[in-house]
Amino acid sequence: MKILVVGRGGREHAIAWKAAQSPLVSTVFVAPGNDGMKQDFECVAIDEKDNGGIVRFCNENHIDLVIIGPEAALVNGLANELTKNNIPVFGPSAEAAIIEGSKQFAKDLMLKYNVPTARYATFSDYNQAIAYVHQHGAPTVIKYDGLAAGKGVVVAQTVEEADNALKDMLLNAKFGEGKVVIEEFLAGEEFSLMALVNGEQVVPLTIAQDHKRAYDGDLGPNTGGMGAYSPVPFITQDIIDQSVKTIMEPVAKAMVREGLPFTGILYGGLILTADGPKVIEFNARFGDPETEVVLPRMKSDLIAHMLDVLNHKETHIEWHREACLGVVLATKGYPGSYPKGAAIEGIDTCDHLLFHSGTAHKDGHWQTNGGRVLFVVGKGNTIAEAQKDAYEGVKQITSDSLFHRTDIGHKALR
Ligand code: AMP
Ligand code: GLY
Repeated sequence: MKILVVGRGGREHAIAWKAAQSPLVSTVFVAPGNDGMKQDFECVAIDEKDNGGIVRFCNENHIDLVIIGPEAALVNGLANELTKNNIPVFGPSAEAAIIEGSKQFAKDLMLKYNVPTARYATFSDYNQAIAYVHQHGAPTVIKYDGLAAGKGVVVAQTVEEADNALKDMLLNAKFGEGKVVIEEFLAGEEFSLMALVNGEQVVPLTIAQDHKRAYDGDLGPNTGGMGAYSPVPFITQDIIDQSVKTIMEPVAKAMVREGLPFTGILYGGLILTADGPKVIEFNARFGDPETEVVLPRMKSDLIAHMLDVLNHKETHIEWHREACLGVVLATKGYPGSYPKGAAIEGIDTCDHLLFHSGTAHKDGHWQTNGGRVLFVVGKGNTIAEAQKDAYEGVKQITSDSLFHRTDIGHKALR
């Protein structure tokens, strides 16, 4: 089989890496990929949002399966176009991807189908929004209703912080014109539960925990994710089973009932509260960087599982027992603005599994080319061993322009 992975980040690198291990697969293409992926895969210079270009490439190269990484391509209707052209695709239609694209849609769906989540209200008027905050107090959570690359969420500890966020989003249109969702603050441990979904069929993957804040001790601004590990020892199998039964399966069913059947990866960003697991958010795709620690733990064949699910067949995923922990190396300045083009040493000699997200290779040298740059994977029999291994890998990469968290996995090691 020939596979096309769409996207250009560490997540897509991990998907391509795993797909290439499948005995069913002869060639893995990536569109557009990045210089790091070019070492192992054929990268084709087609933008993720060039639906026509991707369909043409698939037809000309007889692609047997397309796996879509980024939400922007999903929301842009790439899966719709591929399906229209009879090209098998693992990824939801634009209509179904709204579960990620609109927080209000996701919230309304959960309310209607009794899926546990935080209380909320939606506003487009600043005065009404701030009145609601005054009424309910802080801490509270302010979310821009639309795609903001994981950065449109403010957990406000005080009413003043909430007010500043509302001004940014509703008066100053920081992310564009739009609405905000104001949510009840939930306290508890967060974990990411992804599942292969096709209609009502839900096949859960092993769970992971992301680290969203930029700096050690979970301080600093929210990012796309600074590191991850799997498994998550303090979330028991009972809690995972409960999450599948009360959250993932009902939501897959709800999407079918609403006439928006979901095919692809459904990602539950969940939190274990005193009242059981609740939903923080849904994504319509693989999580980044969770995928970079979950797929290395998958023993069985991802592509076979995807084909089974696309054919509504039962499928049984096998997992390695060993733990996996990965650290993001990011450009100083991220998640704010940052320069590109700084030298990175040690990539070619690093003996650890590396996934590239924002590297460029120029004149024989590696450079930074994005906010999140590299993902260094460690493995071990325990999270502690995997952590030690990952940071040994991190030491092998040097650059004046990169920073990383030094405490990935800290909640599992307390
Ligand atoms: P989201 O983009 O919705 O996943 O939010 C980003 C991060 O903000 C989450 O991973 C949480 O750490 C935090 N967060 C979002 N919503 C809530 C909530 N209702 N209660 C507590 N923390 C939240
Ligand atoms: N790591 C969170 C996300 O992919 O949205």
